[in-house]
Amino acid sequence: MRFIFSSLLVFPFLAFAQSDYPACSPNSKKPTWSLKNISYHAQEYWTTPAHAVPNAQISFSIQQCPTFYRSIAFFKFTNVGGKLELNQTYTCWEDLGPTLVTYFAYGFNNTIFDCNTNITTKPDWTPESGGYYKTVLTDCAPTSLEVVASEISAIA
Ligand SMILES: *[C@@H]1O[C@H](CO)[C@@H](O)[C@H](O)[C@H]1NC(C)=O
Ligand SMILES: *[C@@H]1O[C@H](CO)[C@@H](O)[C@H](O)[C@H]1NC(C)=O
Ligand SMILES: *[C@@H]1O[C@H](CO)[C@@H](O)[C@H](O)[C@H]1NC(C)=O
Ligand SMILES: *[C@@H]1O[C@H](CO)[C@@H](O)[C@H](O)[C@H]1NC(C)=O
Repeated sequence: MRFIFSSLLVFPFLAFAQSDYPACSPNSKKPTWSLKNISYHAQEYWTTPAHAVPNAQISFSIQQCPTFYRSIAFFKFTNVGGKLELNQTYTCWEDLGPTLVTYFAYGFNNTIFDCNTNITTKPDWTPESGGYYKTVLTDCAPTSLEVVASEISAIA
């Protein structure tokens, strides 16, 4: 699954609906999310020397280690420090009982991007000339990241 979204936004996604809950795996208790091909692009358009319009996008593919049918996940990316947080709620059958258990897992890690920044300025810019006074374009090489859950709770 590949997700593309504007950064600094928190967004939920609903995993594929499955008619039956899966069996829990050892990973259900301590999930690790594997994010591949994370790319980050940012643009800053300076409409005047004092005013910039920033914009950024992040995209990645995710491999979910526990089977996350009927799960909800949230991602949050903060571009300062590259902190990527995610949490996920998923339900599965623990074989003792068997009992249906709903887990909530949260984890974060920092993405280290290798970026190129291209700054273009118009030295002859005036408020009348229009266009952008300055353009700052940042493109980062794709990277990957493992996120090990640091907080897990369960409700049976
Ligand atoms: C990585 O992401 C880029 C941009 O979304 C895409 O064009 C490329 O095919 C992806 N590469 C792999 C190996 O998934
Ligand atoms: C999971 O993350 C979302 C988005 O950051 C947040 O709104 C929600 O409160 C989190 N859930 C829990 C139980 O912490
Ligand atoms: C920087 O951006 C300008 C304008 O988009 C472009 O003409 C130039 O080729 C870019 N330079 C590099 C090194 O990417
Ligand atoms: C953070 O990512 C690095 C590199 O992918 C990995 O070695 C490390 O275990 C991760 N830490 C956590 C807490 O997920």
